Amino acid sequence: MHRWRSWYWFGLGVLISVIIVISSVYALADRTKSQEPAKLPLANTPSPITIPTPTPAPTISQPMSTPLGTKYGHFPYAEINRNRLIVVASYGQKEYQRYVEMEREAGLALFRLMNAARDRGLWIIPISGFRTVDYQADLFRRQVQKQGSEMAAARISAPPGYSEHHTGLAIDLGNGFAAGEGKPDITEQFGKTQAYEWLQKNAQTYGFELSYPPNNPQGVMYEPWHWRYVGSDYARQVFAQARSNPKG
Ligand code: DAL
Ligand code: ZN
Repeated sequence: MHRWRSWYWFGLGVLISVIIVISSVYALADRTKSQEPAKLPLANTPSPITIPTPTPAPTISQPMSTPLGTKYGHFPYAEINRNRLIVVASYGQKEYQRYVEMEREAGLALFRLMNAARDRGLWIIPISGFRTVDYQADLFRRQVQKQGSEMAAARISAPPGYSEHHTGLAIDLGNGFAAGEGKPDITEQFGKTQAYEWLQKNAQTYGFELSYPPNNPQGVMYEPWHWRYVGSDYARQVFAQARSNPKG
């Protein structure tokens, strides 16, 4: 009898131990599960659209133009990183076609300017925005051939590495309504249009200013079509030297 009893208690002890061990194992497994990373969505679950954030404007510790000095009156400018450009227009004559690109913020400001002009019955069109140094080299070389010397060419076209167009913040504007007259853009005639008159009064509101007014201290010919954006801290830093000490 006594023997049977001790077997009874022994068996009961073993049973209780087994129950404790099993429940501990389950509790541990549950904890591990709750720490698992969230399950990946099923392949056919539509993922949310990611809107790319624009690359932030780099902080310029020194004005871009300090280290190199001027060349024939032009300040040096670095080519803007191309992933900061947006297309503001498509431009072409005959079979020649290309996009007109600007730095994002300057481009958006240009749209506001163009819309305001359009509300007044004026049709201002972008002709030339961002230019690579290589592209400018080609323009300058052709101008040197026409004018006979680099110095004479530089009154019309900036040497490569020295054009405001490299920054993506400068834009040549034309009068879209003059298309029927053959040559609506890049002539002094533009300075006599209503579009130009409107720009003179209103461009500043949208952050734009004329880079080369008549008799400018840089010695560049009057360019009523060439405007630069100075409506952001970044743009003002880029043009700081040209604006504060335009003689270089
Ligand atoms: N026509 C201006 C000066 C340029 O080439 O940047
Ligand atoms: Zn220009």
